[in-house]
Amino acid sequence: MEAAHRPDELLSVGEMSHRTGVAVSALHYYERLGLIASLRTSGNQRRYPRHMLRRVALISVAKRLGIPLENVKEAFESVPLSSTPTHEDWQRASRRWKKVLEQRRQGIERLEQELTGCIGCGCLSMKACSLLNPDDQLGDTGSGARRIPV
Ligand code: FES
Repeated sequence: MEAAHRPDELLSVGEMSHRTGVAVSALHYYERLGLIASLRTSGNQRRYPRHMLRRVALISVAKRLGIPLENVKEAFESVPLSSTPTHEDWQRASRRWKKVLEQRRQGIERLEQELTGCIGCGCLSMKACSLLNPDDQLGDTGSGARRIPV
């Protein structure tokens, strides 16, 4: 059983990694991105305030949802690195990410509809296949052969 932790406790990068399950290299990366922050000891070693655990937990959730770190950064903009994120901070981040997931869901639905339009005949026609040329978008760029955007 773990001992109770003081709120002002500072954690080494190894302890952060152990408690969050996030690799040390990833923690360093998150720090370079400004998603988390550490203090330095006199020996120049990183020490993380305990509330950084919650930030890393949220980053991990975002990663699991496929939310880009750029969106995580936006969500963290209103949460100072020096303070513990509140319930409201998390609620705000959650609302933003729900919008991102909703946009993604709508994109998948559009792809499903285009897949329905494609009869899977193998023609790969730039004119007829709705997967290759949704809404005849390439028609706007002129006629003739062209490179398929990837
Ligand atoms: S491959 Fe023929 S319509 Fe899509």
